[in-house]
Order: sequence, then C-alpha cells, then structure tokens
Amino acid sequence: MEAYRDPSKPVEERVEDLLRRMTLEEKIGQMCQYSAHMGLSERLKELVRKGLVGSLLNVVGVENVNEIQRIAVEESRLGIPLLLGLDVIHGYKTIFPIPLALASSWDPEVVERATAIAAREAAAEGIRWTFAPMLDIARDPRWGRIAEGFGEDPYLASVMAWAAVKGFQGDRLSSDPEKIAACAKHYVAYGGAEGGRDYNTVDISERTLREVYMPPFKSAVAAGVATVMSAFNDLNGIPASANEFTLRKMLKGEWGFQGFVVSDWNAIGELVVHGIAADAAEAAKLAVAAGVDMDMEGDVYRRHLLELVKRGEVPEQLIDEAVRRILRVKFLLGLFENPYADPERAKRVVKRGEHFEAALEIARKCIVLAKNEGVLPLSKSLRRIAVIGPLADDRDAPLGCWRALGDPRDAVTVLEGVRKKVPHAEVLYAKGCDVRSEDRSGFEEAVEAARRAEAVVLVVGESADMSGEAASRAYLDLPGVQEELVKAVWEAVKGRGVPVVEVVMSGRPLSIKWSAEHIPAIVIAWHLGVRAGDAIADVLFGDYNPGGKLPVTWPRTVGQVPIYYNHKRTGRPPGPDRFTSKYIDEDWRPLFPFGHGLSYTRFEYSDLSVEPEEVEPGATVSVAVTVRNAGGREGDEVVQLYVRDVAASVTRPVMELKGFKRVHLKPGESKRVIFRMPTQLLAFYGRDMAPIIEAGDYEVMVGSSSEDIRLRGKFKVTRTAKLEDLRSVWFTKVEV
Ligand code: BGC
Repeated sequence: MEAYRDPSKPVEERVEDLLRRMTLEEKIGQMCQYSAHMGLSERLKELVRKGLVGSLLNVVGVENVNEIQRIAVEESRLGIPLLLGLDVIHGYKTIFPIPLALASSWDPEVVERATAIAAREAAAEGIRWTFAPMLDIARDPRWGRIAEGFGEDPYLASVMAWAAVKGFQGDRLSSDPEKIAACAKHYVAYGGAEGGRDYNTVDISERTLREVYMPPFKSAVAAGVATVMSAFNDLNGIPASANEFTLRKMLKGEWGFQGFVVSDWNAIGELVVHGIAADAAEAAKLAVAAGVDMDMEGDVYRRHLLELVKRGEVPEQLIDEAVRRILRVKFLLGLFENPYADPERAKRVVKRGEHFEAALEIARKCIVLAKNEGVLPLSKSLRRIAVIGPLADDRDAPLGCWRALGDPRDAVTVLEGVRKKVPHAEVLYAKGCDVRSEDRSGFEEAVEAARRAEAVVLVVGESADMSGEAASRAYLDLPGVQEELVKAVWEAVKGRGVPVVEVVMSGRPLSIKWSAEHIPAIVIAWHLGVRAGDAIADVLFGDYNPGGKLPVTWPRTVGQVPIYYNHKRTGRPPGPDRFTSKYIDEDWRPLFPFGHGLSYTRFEYSDLSVEPEEVEPGATVSVAVTVRNAGGREGDEVVQLYVRDVAASVTRPVMELKGFKRVHLKPGESKRVIFRMPTQLLAFYGRDMAPIIEAGDYEVMVGSSSEDIRLRGKFKVTRTAKLEDLRSVWFTKVEV
C-alpha cells in the first residue's frame, strides 16, 4: 500500500508521500474549489475525474455527496477525496439563532452547543467543512453582514470564536464523524466597510486592525481552526486576498497557522476589478504569493497557475506549500478512510427531536429584553390578545440569513407560540402591513384587533433577506410603514392600561427611537431560528426570564453610526458644553448600549475586591464581586468586567470588556463571581507597534451593561513589559 493510504502513518508522512506522487496539474487541482449550486454538471464531474478539483461547495444531499466523492476516490488517478463545504452558519437543517443573536446570550456554551449540533447534522450528510464562524467585528449596522458575526467587541467575539471552533471541530481537528472543519472568515477587517456598504473599501490604521479586527481571528487560530477565508475587501490599499502582510506575515507567520486559506467567492478574480492586477493571471500570481491556498469558484488558479509556474513566475514550492496545507486538513478529517456519508446515519441524526429542543433552549437565551415598564411578563389569564404585525405569522424571517438547508416549514411563528401558550385565550391576529411595502390598507383591521384586546403584541422588523450578504441599508428604521403601524396601534390603545409589547426581529440594530420612547415593553428577538415563536412566547408570558445582552450598540438614528461603546476619548468628551464631541440635533448616546438587557428580576452588586492593588506584568488581577438576585423570580445576569487604562503612551478606549459571566440565580440567592484577568489582556500596540503592557493606573468597572456600571475599583501595573516576553493568554478565567 502506498504510504499516503496507510492510516497508521503520521499525517505529515502521508502528506509528503502523496505530494511526491502528484503532477503539477494535480497539485494545482487541489487548490481549486467550485460550486455545485447548479447541480453536479458533467463538466464538474470530468474535472473531478481528472483530479483537477480539491473541493466543492454547495453539493447537497447524501446521494450527490456520495456520487461525486466516488468519482474522486475511485476514478481519479490518485483517489484523493474531495473536501465538501457549505455555509453552515447557524445550523444545518435545525436552524439556530443567527450569530449576532447567539452572541446576545453572552454564553460561549450556547455557541458551542449550536455549532456542535450544526456540525453533527452537516457531517452526517457528508459536509465536512463549513464557512464559519464569521468573525468580522462590525461597528456599523448598515452593513447587513453584521447579522453573521458576534457583534462589535473584540473580546466577546474572541470568546465566541473560540467556542464556535470547538463546537464545529471539537478539541482538535479529527476524523470524529460528528465534527467538521471550521473556517474563520472573512480575513480581515471586512466589517470595516466604509459607509457600511458591502464589499467596500476598508481604510483603517494598523493599530485598529490589530486591536479591533484581528483578535477574534487570532483566537480562532489559537483554538485550532482548520481554515481561514481571505476577504473581498481592499485593506489599506491592498485587497485582503492579495495581502502578504495579513496572510503570510501575520496569520501564517506570527500566529503559526497550520491550516489553509481559501479565498472568498471569486475574490482572486476580483483583484482585477480592484485594479491591483492587470489580468486574471496576475491576480493568480498575487494571491498565491500572498498565501491564498485555494481559489473559491474563481477558476483563476486552474487557468493560470500552471503557466505561471512553467514560466518561473510562481515558484513551485509555493504550490507545494499550499497543497500540503490542504492535504493535511483532508488527512486529519479522515476523508481518505471515510469519504462517504451513511444515509441511514443521516436519517437518524438530522433534525432529530433533541436538536429542536436545543434550538428552543438556545433561542430563549438569546432574547434581549430592552425595555419593560411594568408590562411584561403578560398574564396567562388574559382572555383576548392581539398579535399584530408583518412578522407575527412569518415562517421565513426566524430562519434569518444563511440558513443552510433550513426549511421555513419547520419554523414556529410568534402567533403559533402565543396560541400554544394561552390555549384558552382568544388570539386576534392582524398582519397590518407587509415588511417593506407602502400599503396601509391593513391598518384598520390591526387597530380594531388592538381595541378589542386586553394585551397587544406587535411583531415588527426585518425579513430574513434584509440582512446578510449584499443587504446593506441606508436607513435603520423599521422598514416600510411598520413604524406607522406601531403608532396607529399605540394611538388606539394608549391610556387604557392595555399592555403593549413590541417584539423586534432583525439581523441588525434598528433605530426604533419612537418605539423606545412610547411603547412600554420592547423585546429584541433578532432572527431566532426554528423555535423562535416558542422562545418568544416563553419570554412574553414569563415561563422564561430573559437574560440576553446586546453584543452591539443600538443607535437612535443612522446618523450616529458608527457608534460603539469602546470608542476613543477625544480631547472633548461629550458633555453639556457646546464645544464637545456630540450632535446639535440628536443625543450622542445610543438608544440601547452595548451589554444592555433587562430581566424580570433585579440583581444587586456588592463587595467588589480588586487584588493585588499593584501587579507585575504577566501576573493576574483578581476582580471579585457578589451578585444577588434581589427580586422575586429566578433569572440570569451577565456580570460584565470593563477596564480603562487611565493614561498610556497612545490613546486608549474609554473602556474595554475584559471578562463576563452569565450566572443563574434563584430569588434571594447570591454568588461570588471571580474574574482572574491576566495582565496580558491589557496589552496594546505602542508607538512602535510592538504589543506592550504599560505601567500605570487602571480603572475597573463591573456592571450589568457598559452604561450600567455598579461598582468601581482600581489597580496599578508596576512596570512596562513587552508582550512577547510573556506567555500569551487569551481569556479571563471566571470562577463562580
Ligand atoms: C460569502 C462567503 C461565503 C461564500 C460561499 C461568499 O459570497 O462572502 O461568506 O462563505 O460566498 O458561499
């Protein structure tokens, strides 16, 4: 048996053995990925048979997977299996909340659980690679892809990145049939698109790049992510898919990334459109030199690399390096031993009951109670409830963007959730209007329903196609005439003591200022997945006490964007004085701040201790606080730790999240939460762009949101140290 076929041999030996047997064409073939979104064409099959394809995406269904895999394994010369990928972002067929919602749980176990189930289902149908997690920090909600990521904060996103990689891959990439390779995307700074317009230019400082946009990727690499996707965007003059600095120097060099880099969809071909390559051949050359190992759908590598190598313009050793990386992932996944999906297993695993149960538990944890003036929870003895709005009975919106193979027929709507919850009540449903049209003809019916009801639940927001890729918005209001609907309903019932709740489903923060000022209760539901309606009903009627917190700031108006909590200080922080950093026609503060989220109970914070008062770089600061449930219901609180570097050699943010913990407390119960924060987490890039921890004073803030700080303390770092001289540490360890 050839060494590469022998599973008892070490992976590196198998890689080298196989590489030696490959022709240059076959090597380049491994670097090519095509989409089968139009089905398995004869052309695709032929390319696979010739060994000219390394990977396919969008092959769906066990039969198709096995058919194409059989051609690769049995009919190609070397029998190298294909790596089959799909965008399994927040579920495969059992759809979970969108990633922005998952981040709202502030619970990495939630992310790990959702991604693990997604991996299990996808793997069962032969998909062993996902293009997730999306790790783009997003500070601009106009950008539709904010829905796909973990929000605005590098620390929160880094913790979630780690959890997602573990969920998809397990502790390390292996042949475990429940696990798949993850892909950290879109590397890098794709979320910094100017004006929030998708695919747009990103021009940011290296400091912002390293401190804000890089950390989640670094965390994913540290967690062992198998692949990274190079982004579409221009980054400071060099598109991310031709960027030697970010790919070769940082990712593969500084961070020691061992996996492979796949371009985003035709991102190599688009280097010509960016105007950085004169033609596709030059684009191929730039991308391969920068370190892009696989060409997604561009067909640029297949058409040009062979010639470029023959002409001596691309050294063959660059090709070898790329192929090594790709083969390594295939061997580690056990594809050579187990290339096929088992249809029987797929039937047992996909969409099984416990996955739908998990989808409910997870969805509940992602709901954020943004406002509640004594209205929620609703009483179950209400006799007549109006459920109003274009999303109240919509099965599609809950699935959100990128729902893989999710089926809207599986989704539970709010209307259904409410009907199940209060079977004896009369539920009056009125759609009121469409999500986006100008038609107001349904208002009357909605107003009538509201007038007759003892409680009103409005379900408004964005349809699924309004966020995700190529779904940037210039307005952040409720689309169409929905705000008018909300106003009309409110006018009809206000002053009559009828509880009115607004449930907002969206893939981004919305500037619902009018609602926030008038409607007494607001529930932020995002797009919650298949069990959305059940989870929302649980919250509305108090069977679940909401504990989610915002992973992203909600602006009052689009004019405040970008708005994020960890901004720099300026020389004139906003204040009553006119000549300070603010607007003359709008409050500078957000509508709902980062970290915000209410509960049906009250939490008290006490006894902050910060130890030691003086700490050596490399040592750990312990911040402990007691949190007590002072209300009458059990519930979850997310205890948040922020730090402010008082004075440094470069300007620093007003505050930065450095630790968090979601704790569950019964009425009257208290817990001591101890954050063990390594001083490494205080590091930043100094004047010479070397990461340092600086001597000086640091303020500690602990609270319930970035604006609801309950306790403050401080400590001092005794001397300045270079981060390189210290062990790198990723997260604050939290004990309860
Ligand atoms: C998106 C990626 C996605 C890829 C494959 C691209 O358009 O930007 O996020 O993984 O398509 O579907």
